Amino acid sequence: MADKPPFYITTAIDYVNGAPHLGHAYEKILTDVMARHKRLDGFDVMFLTGTDEHGQKVAKTAEENGKEPKEFCDEISKKFSNMADYLNLSNDDFIRTTEPRHYEASKAIWAAIKENNPDDIYLGKYAGWYSVRDEGYFTEDELTEGEDSEGNKFKLAPTGAPVEWVEESSYFFRLSAYTDKLLDLYKTHPEFIAPDSRRNEITSFVKGGLQDISISRTNFKWGVPVPGDEDHVMYVWLDALTNYITGVGYPDTGSDSYKKHWPADFHVVGKDIIRFHCVYWPAFLMAANLDLPKRIFAHGFINVNGEKMSKSVGNVVAPKDLLDLYGLDATRYLLMREVSHGQDGNFSHEYAVQRINSDLANGLGNLVQRTLSMIYKNCDGVIPTPNDFNAEDNALLDHAYAKLLPAMRIDCDEMRFNRALENIWKLVIEANGYVDAQAPWALKKEDPERMKTVLYVLAETIRVLGIVVQSVVPESAVKILTQLKIAEDQRDYSFVSKEYALKGGTEIDQPEGVFPRLETSEKAA
Ligand code: MSP
Repeated sequence: MADKPPFYITTAIDYVNGAPHLGHAYEKILTDVMARHKRLDGFDVMFLTGTDEHGQKVAKTAEENGKEPKEFCDEISKKFSNMADYLNLSNDDFIRTTEPRHYEASKAIWAAIKENNPDDIYLGKYAGWYSVRDEGYFTEDELTEGEDSEGNKFKLAPTGAPVEWVEESSYFFRLSAYTDKLLDLYKTHPEFIAPDSRRNEITSFVKGGLQDISISRTNFKWGVPVPGDEDHVMYVWLDALTNYITGVGYPDTGSDSYKKHWPADFHVVGKDIIRFHCVYWPAFLMAANLDLPKRIFAHGFINVNGEKMSKSVGNVVAPKDLLDLYGLDATRYLLMREVSHGQDGNFSHEYAVQRINSDLANGLGNLVQRTLSMIYKNCDGVIPTPNDFNAEDNALLDHAYAKLLPAMRIDCDEMRFNRALENIWKLVIEANGYVDAQAPWALKKEDPERMKTVLYVLAETIRVLGIVVQSVVPESAVKILTQLKIAEDQRDYSFVSKEYALKGGTEIDQPEGVFPRLETSEKAA
């Protein structure tokens, strides 16, 4: 068998200055769905996530908590790796930027830039604005003015975070030399930044001209030491971005994993950090003479009840609370179904319950439950052998075999999971409509042979549905496929075809419900 094509996908690595919230969870689930989708579609997937542990923000939070930075990072990083477990992420690795392998990679990329483009790193003095919350440098003309309740004026970064004036000895990266190269990249590889609106945003930022950026700090110590000058620690974003190559074995560019998986196919990140990923990262890689990732996908933000999540508003949702309330797969489904490609999404409890009940409990869940129960009761617990298919049967099966997957592949490959789910649910609706129209319960007496065919067609449609929903609701899909006695090695997309149709005569167990109905009175955390 030919080698599977490789596919490498990453999430942003989360700052360890606080516990994970729904926004972090959304990004990780989004990436997991893509990783699972590609595995089911025959790719050799590498999926990396992890935590970003250096920098002034983390150092400051550790100090406020009376902890040594490393001790603090260990504690918080654990909360994120636990989240990867309870969200059932299929990540192949979890990277922490405090690991020795990452120190080695970060120092190596610095050295590679110096070696390949010695003029691109020079020593100077930074005097300018810095936002600790963004860990970012901003120019005067990007700032706005804020005022507190006592009338004190202060300056704000475009993200709304306060900035402070910083003056320190620093190494600089000659970003200004990359303006044309980056514009050329966006032009010749328009797919490099998705969605398109983000590419336009970044292109106009770069067209405005790029200034050299400071890539080391001297007024605190929590970071990777600069090779050859240990008074400096590397700028946290240079360190953090490098995680994507550490994860595949850099600096060993001859390793199997590096050769197979770099360049990455997708970096999935939030819209707030595209400048770092679409401008700084490719420039660093060009300077180090390394290949560029193929695509940066910027997702939107999850708001809660129409407002940005924030501690001061008190609307920060902990992912764990949602899982306790709705269950894991329902939460995963909800987030993937509700948020449109690259757009912000809103979470509200009332709407969540409605969506989960209508699509999962009453939609797919009910289809599976009533079909399997009828088979169990009326066909002696075995999948019936069908007779000739009529036009209605063929229409449903044709939708399942021929129409579903091609459209879904196009949507999923572009991370349009909301649209893919909307389309998959058209088949769920059609199948439920077919049950009502064919009324197998009435056929039991009138025409038992026809009843068998109808139940078979339904079971076969459910088999296909079970296969295609695996990336979004993995545990529930396994329950569906297991109830139909589908072997574990017959669950990828290549089995969506008539050739692998269910065999009449297969015994099934007493069916169990897959998607419980939620009570509307259950309250959000
Ligand atoms: N550490 C950097 C990323 C370094 S990647 C080399 C960082 N960390 S973060 O913890 O602030 O954010 C991690 C990810 O979560 C980012 O992609 C960010 O956009 C995303 N989100 C943070 N809040 C979010 C929402 N409310 N909604 C959706 N995603 C959000 O940035």
